[in-house]
Amino acid sequence: MSPATVQAEAQNGACGDPRRADGPAALEAIVALRALVWRSERDVIDAAKLSPDASLFRDAGDARALHWTIEADGSVVAAARLCLQTDAGDLPGGERFGRLLAGLPTPVALLSRLVVHPAMRRRGLAQALTEVRMEAARSWGARSIVVEASPRRIAPLLALGFVELGLSAAEPFDLAAFTLMALRL
Ligand SMILES: CC(C)(COP(=O)(O)OP(=O)(O)OC[C@H]1O[C@@H](n2cnc3c(N)ncnc32)[C@H](O)[C@@H]1OP(=O)(O)O)[C@@H](O)C(=O)NCCC(=O)NCCS
Repeated sequence: MSPATVQAEAQNGACGDPRRADGPAALEAIVALRALVWRSERDVIDAAKLSPDASLFRDAGDARALHWTIEADGSVVAAARLCLQTDAGDLPGGERFGRLLAGLPTPVALLSRLVVHPAMRRRGLAQALTEVRMEAARSWGARSIVVEASPRRIAPLLALGFVELGLSAAEPFDLAAFTLMALRL
């Protein structure tokens, strides 16, 4: 679906609930949405520094993560993933969190790769994807949940009970600071 078509869908208001996404075709659709979203986030990411295989689009953690998507008219318009680890040091990207993870109860769940199509924003899609992943983390037996928050994600996560742990180490393409946040369950 083209961005213009998604804009039309957004105006029509048709949009599904979060659903688990699995398999290579689903992951391709998710990766395509990540690329579309991050290349348009000019205040957060320097798109000129993103290569086609940038880890923001796809990384080794995708294979062992659980993924959720929201669709409109058969196209993925929002996506997010959940990684579950018994050792916080094994979380994808964990090397950038350093000592911020120290003392967090384990197992730990990481919420990451949240993207919502620009034409589908401020409709609660990010909130819905966050809640479904928190519920899955609880069911799995996680004792804490962490998330690396972009600036506009901080307030909604504070409202869900997360606390700020500090800034994670910047990636070369970051224009904004990302804050590691945690919730003890
Ligand atoms: C951040 C993002 C995921 C939000 O998606 P969304 O579906 O529009 O968010 P929601 O509709 O669920 O909004 C939930 C809350 O987030 C906050 N929020 C969302 N977009 C915001 C914005 N542009 N400015 C300020 N606050 C914002 C608000 O508190 C909002 O609640 P409200 O609408 O009742 O005021 C989306 O803008 C996006 O994909 N951005 C680029 C990628 C990114 O930053 N991902 C997050 C990495 S942690």
